[in-house]
Order: sequence, then structure tokens, then C-alpha cells
Amino acid sequence: METMQGLKRTHMCAELSLQDVGKKVVLMGWVQGRRNLGGLIFVDLRDRSGIIQIVFDENVSADIFKKAELIRNEYVLAVVGTVASRAPEAINDRMKTGHIEVKASELRILSKAETPPFYIIENLDANEQLRLKYRYLDLRRPDMQKNIMLRHRVAKIVRDFFDENGFLEIETPMLTKSTPEGARDYLVPSRVHPGKFYALPQSPQLYKQLLMLAGMDRYFQIVRCFRDEDLRADRQPEFTQIDIEMSFVNVEDVLEINERLMAKIFKDVLGIELQMPFLRLPYSEALERFGSDKPDIRFGLELKNISDIVAGSGFKVFADAVARGGSVRAINAKQCADKFSRRDLDSLGEYVKTYRAKGLAWIIVTENEIKSPVKKFLSDEEMQTILGRTDAQPGDIIMIIADRDDIVFDSLGHLRLELAKRLNLIKKDDYKLLWVTEFPLLEYDEEEKRYVAKHHPFTSPMDEDIPLLDSDPLKVRAKAYDIVLNGVEIGGGSIRIFNTELQQKMFETLGFSKEEAWERFGFLMEAFKYGTPPHGGMAYGLDRLVMLLAGRDSIRDVIAFPKVQTAAELMTNAPSEVDAKQLKELHIKLDV
Ligand code: AMO
Ligand code: AMP
Repeated sequence: METMQGLKRTHMCAELSLQDVGKKVVLMGWVQGRRNLGGLIFVDLRDRSGIIQIVFDENVSADIFKKAELIRNEYVLAVVGTVASRAPEAINDRMKTGHIEVKASELRILSKAETPPFYIIENLDANEQLRLKYRYLDLRRPDMQKNIMLRHRVAKIVRDFFDENGFLEIETPMLTKSTPEGARDYLVPSRVHPGKFYALPQSPQLYKQLLMLAGMDRYFQIVRCFRDEDLRADRQPEFTQIDIEMSFVNVEDVLEINERLMAKIFKDVLGIELQMPFLRLPYSEALERFGSDKPDIRFGLELKNISDIVAGSGFKVFADAVARGGSVRAINAKQCADKFSRRDLDSLGEYVKTYRAKGLAWIIVTENEIKSPVKKFLSDEEMQTILGRTDAQPGDIIMIIADRDDIVFDSLGHLRLELAKRLNLIKKDDYKLLWVTEFPLLEYDEEEKRYVAKHHPFTSPMDEDIPLLDSDPLKVRAKAYDIVLNGVEIGGGSIRIFNTELQQKMFETLGFSKEEAWERFGFLMEAFKYGTPPHGGMAYGLDRLVMLLAGRDSIRDVIAFPKVQTAAELMTNAPSEVDAKQLKELHIKLDV
């Protein structure tokens, strides 16, 4: 095998252009493909920058030509040669370097390669398990390289932006005490403290608050977080946050600086000018209009409340839902009467059942009649009022769900997305950002029979709602916000509680005894005694943000070495068993 000895790479493959014609260059990279035309061998050489064509000519050097005959895909080569322009008939406009080639005068085969288990090409249609087992090969593919480079660019913009705005990047511990973001912890046993465990951070939440107490004023960190939860396309057990905390700020201050960050990222990465300020939608309005606290606002299909119209109607399903404190709401699928057959409507009915709806009532409006399974239960006046409320025109289909509010929102919210998909209402390359604000502070956990923090226990209630903490806790709104991009929650945060009494009251409301609260979070409440600046912040899911910027559907595509559904890493086979000796040192006996 040959080495690079005495050779120094001069260029990346696809950096070369017509301007370099005549230059002697040294290139190194992988073989994308090889064609032997007898007397001439063409090799496509690939590195991170792209591909260039190398020509080996038997008439230039028979020795080198002989060696070039040995070349196979994915061999690693060093090539010395001269850049030449291609003959007009050989020009390839689809290649960045399609106007030039390199005429080789020296060749070294630095490394041979076995045939890879899949093609190293863009838009490969291969089994993801296989791709992940050979992730280093998968990452050679141009689209994956683009994603990883994009991720780097975003991280770089973030660092520059925060630096320019007076933020300090400060690292926080990975071996730490459990933090309450609501997921299960990953635990790390302590060897020197038998029976005790560190938790890997679900986020640096408490540390960043303590950094504000420490007078650091503005903090950010691009930081790994760990949550043992069920995985989905936009969830990984370890993921990366852009984590931010600021002192002496209110909600508007946090939103404003983050809008500037988003504007910068979109401008630099996609060349898109975002309109500021972004839409701010209170949580309650987001649900009322879109059935979701992370609404995709790239299309309409908004929900309409028709509860008042049908409360006294003869259709028991509708009247009962309202009587029980639920609601009846509708979506107008505009001009869909011709697009959806009865079977389509049945399938939409099945679809909403996966979100616990019991049925989907529909009204088809045509020029001269109204078709609906619920027509016979409604008076003409009720029907006309529904059609007016939903802005119905001939050709429209009104789709209605009656149930508990949470079920109506969830099922209609998803129906809305499903309709947009089936009707092709979403333009690729359309990006809509908004803030959802004024989240409820608390929700009720039916299983645990207690209130839990909707965001986390350090989130401040809105000042005017504090009295409700005693009388009607579920009505209390928080100084909490999420940033939503195309229907994905890419980040969230809040202004924090900064006084001990209110924090203690919050813990009480969450059902912690004073002792429990001090045992878990005493260090924070102790710190509050020594002069606490009002503070707040947020965190983005970097993986999710990059996924959307890259136009992907899964965050696995923008993470170099992601985990699969079972939280396993297929390349290294983690997690794996460990030696008995290691377990003994950690004072651990297995019970599996
Ligand atoms: P939160 O829990 O909302 O807030 O997390 C912030 C953002 O992180 C992303 N995210 C995830 N991404 C991939 N995989 C996961 N398992 C995962 N979980 C969360 C989401 C989410 O919006 N400490 C607070 C922030 C704060 O209050 O400042 C926090 O962690 O995009
Ligand atoms: P039924 O009288 O049970 O045949 O119901 C008449 C129509 O109402 C059917 O199209 C059902 O799908 C629909 N339906 C049943 N339950 C609900 C509900 N909770 N919300 C909306 N529509 C419903």
C-alpha cells in the first residue's frame, strides 16, 4: 500500500474551476466511479466538497494507466495532475466541475475498499437500519454531508450571534442531580458513593438559573441533553439544545433577541428574510383556531366553534357534548365536495378515531342541496347558522367533531394537518414561525392525581393570575412561550420565579411537601436568599431546527450518530453488557 509521503493536498476536488486550467494540483479522495474506455480511464474522485473527473491516459504513462486499472469504487487515492478544460462535447452541466477535468500524471492508491453494502449516492433509497450500521459510509453520501455541514453552519451562526450580543458560553455538568423536565432520567452509578447515582441532565435548567444568580447576566450553551422517553421522528434520547438564559428581562426581551437570531439563521442559511415581529398567539387562541399548541400556520382550515348553535339541537351527540362541558367544532374543507368520496370521508372518520374522537360528522354543501348524516337531527335554522358560521359555499364539506375539549382539539387539529396533506396545501420551502404564549402554568395529571407543571416548576405565573393559584390553579397562565416552525415546536422557555416564597408555593401546588422540595431543590431556594436577579430564557432543539432547515422529516438525518427507536446505536451496538468486575466496582447486582 502506498502512502502520502512527499505529497501535500493542494485543493478540494470541487473547488477547482475553469480559472484553474493549467494548474498542477494534488487531490485526495474516494473513488465515486470508474469508466475504462480502453486507452483512457475516467475516475470520479470525491471529497467533502464534491466530485471531479480524473483522466488516466495510456499514452501519457503506461505505468500509471496500469495502476488505474486496479481502481475500484471507494478506493482512496492521491492524484497529481493538471487541470484542463473539457472538450465541448464532454461538458457536463449537471456537475459543478463539469467544465473541467484533471489529467493525471501520478497516482497513489492509499487505501483499498471492499464493495460497500449500499451505494454512496445522493437520495439513496436504502433500509435505515443498514445505513445506521454503516453510518460512516452513509455519512459519505452528499446529502448527509450537506446536512452535517448545515448543522455546523447553524451552530457557528448561533455562537457568533450570542457572542456579539454579550452572551457567555458556559459549560455545565453532565454528571449531575436529577432535573425536572418531566422525562425519565439516565442514571450513572457512583463508584465512590455506593448506592448513589448521578443523573445526566435533561437540560441545564437549574445551572443556568444559578449562573444568573452568579451575576453572569447572559448565558448560552450548545449542550447535550438526555431524556429517557419514547422515541419519535423528532425525539432522541440524547439531543442538543441551544440553551439561553438572561437577567433583568421580561417576556418581550427574550422573544425579541430570539427573533433576531432566527432572522440571522434564515438569512444566512436559506437566504430568506423573515418578517419581524413574528406572530404571537396566546395558547388559548392557538387551540381555538388550530386545535394545537404548535400550529402549522402555512394554511387555513381553521376550527370554528359551533357549540352554541347545536347545544339545544335534536342531535343527542352534539347536545350532550356541550351539556357535559365539552364542545362541538368544525372545519370547512373548502371545495372538497368533488375531491372526497364517501369512502374518503369514512377513512377520515377512522383517522380521527386514532385521536379518540368517536365519530366525524360531515355536511356536504352543493348548489341545490345539503347532504349530511346529521341533517335529519338539525333544524333548518340550526343548519343555516352552522353554514354561516363556517363560511360554507357550494362545493364545501363541513367536518364536525363533538366531545371533550381536549379530544375535539386534538382530533380536529390532526384532521386539519391530514387534510392539508391530502389536499397538497403545504408548499415546500414555505417557512412560518410564530410564538405561542401564555401557556397554562399547570395541568392535572389524572394518573398521579395532582397538578404538574406544564413547562417546569421554575416557570413564573403571570402577575395578574397569581391570586388564582389558590382559587382556580388550572386557569393560571404562565410567562411561558414556545417557538413553532411549520407545526414543530423548535423551542420553548419562560420567565422564572425569582422569589423563595412564590417558588415554595409553586412546589406546594405541585404536591411536594416542604421537606421534599428542599431535598430536591434546596440548593436553588437557598441561592434565592442571596440576591436574585429577575431572569428568564429558553432552549431550542438544535436537531429539530436543523432538520427543518434541511427539509428533512427525521432528526436522525441531521445527527451524525443517532439512535434508533429502541434507543440502541446500531454501529457500536450500545448499550451493551459490561464485565462482572465493573459491576462489582459499582456495587451493582443485576436483576434481569
Ligand atoms: P423543553 O423541555 O421544552 O425546555 O426543551 C426545549 C426544546 O428541546 C427540544 N427537545 C428535543 N429534541 C429532540 N429530542 C428530544 N427528546 C427533545 N426534547 C426536547 C424541543 C424543545 O422545544 N429547560 C427548558 C428550557 C427553558 O425553560 O429555558 C427545556 O428544556 O425542540
Ligand atoms: P349515528 O346517528 O350514530 O349514525 O351518527 C351520525 C353521524 O354522526 C355519523 O356520521 C357519525 O360519524 C357522527 N358522529 C358520531 N359521534 C360523533 C361525535 N362525537 N362527533 C361528531 N360526529 C359524530
